[in-house]
Amino acid sequence: MAKHRLRVLSLFTGGGGLDIGLEMAGLDTVMCVDHDPESCATIRHNRPEWSVFEGDVREFQPEGEFDLVVGGPPCQGFSTAGKGNPDDPRNFLWREYFRIVEQTRPKALLLENVAGMANAKNKHHLDEFISHLNLLGYQVEVGILNAADFGVPQARKRLFVLAGLGWKPHLPTKKKGAQHVSAAEAIGDLINNPNAPNHEPNQHAEHVVARWKNLKEGEVDPNYRRGRIYSDRPSPTIRAGGGFGPKGDHLAGFHPPIHYTLPRQLTVRESARIQSFPDSWVFKGSKTAQGRQVGNAVPPLLGRAVGESLKKGLVSFLEENSGRKSGT
Ligand SMILES: C[S@@+](CC[C@H](N)C(=O)[O-])C[C@H]1O[C@@H](n2cnc3c(N)ncnc32)[C@H](O)[C@@H]1O
Repeated sequence: MAKHRLRVLSLFTGGGGLDIGLEMAGLDTVMCVDHDPESCATIRHNRPEWSVFEGDVREFQPEGEFDLVVGGPPCQGFSTAGKGNPDDPRNFLWREYFRIVEQTRPKALLLENVAGMANAKNKHHLDEFISHLNLLGYQVEVGILNAADFGVPQARKRLFVLAGLGWKPHLPTKKKGAQHVSAAEAIGDLINNPNAPNHEPNQHAEHVVARWKNLKEGEVDPNYRRGRIYSDRPSPTIRAGGGFGPKGDHLAGFHPPIHYTLPRQLTVRESARIQSFPDSWVFKGSKTAQGRQVGNAVPPLLGRAVGESLKKGLVSFLEENSGRKSGT
């Protein structure tokens, strides 16, 4: 076992999905960076012991030593869900992530993003990031994982870059025979639990309720472009924001899919369960801000699986190295 706890510097922390997954894997987040006040309020509320730099990552100067640097730079520019503009300035924030890696030289790092980061039009960002890491002495593993294969009741594909300074980390593999968790298993009890945190249902207009009453499981309302989730399988991806009005007009706010039996969209808590957040993790800010934090997050159970694999590799690398140094 590692002789000391492994200290994590978390960039673009958001609502903390990745960090609580890493915590479940036995890694300790000690510093978080995010410019969104509502996300920072969530972190401070749930983990007052984690330090928070609330501001632009471009102004963040790391102090102290970290064993790991982790984070998911914003992905709207890479996302296949959005317009995916290759010149979106947010596409270049990985360079800030790299600057901080260069300054802190952690033993390992983890970068998470939408699978679209590996698409032809964005791949030069990924290639540049990897070649910069190689020049610093990092060995890199890249892959796309589906959260549903790691106990998350949601089909959600995400790209992970893992790197080790002088050693090669590996992504976790799907456990043989592991069953997918269905949406009903994940949120069924919330129908009779109105007091769960962040579980206030939206009051949709009567004509919307009338439409959604008649939708079958898996069916999409063509006007609102939203579907009723299946009860017996993982939910489709929960997204951070934006939706469509009846005339195809783009709406701000949080617009998750429709409940498998009720004529309304999922609540923030139901969406958080679909993302595998524990109910003890409370989201702060407006309902839109809560939904954004949930939809942007790495599902904690996926973060846990990746964290366990990363930690296992790092611990054995550290043990081997300390053995060599002491001649044992
Ligand atoms: C995809 S989310 C991260 C989600 C997080 N990994 C999780 O698992 O919950 C990206 C985050 O980056 C933050 N962000 C975007 N641009 C930033 C900047 N220039 N400086 C600091 N934070 C930024 C956003 O506020 C958002 O919370």
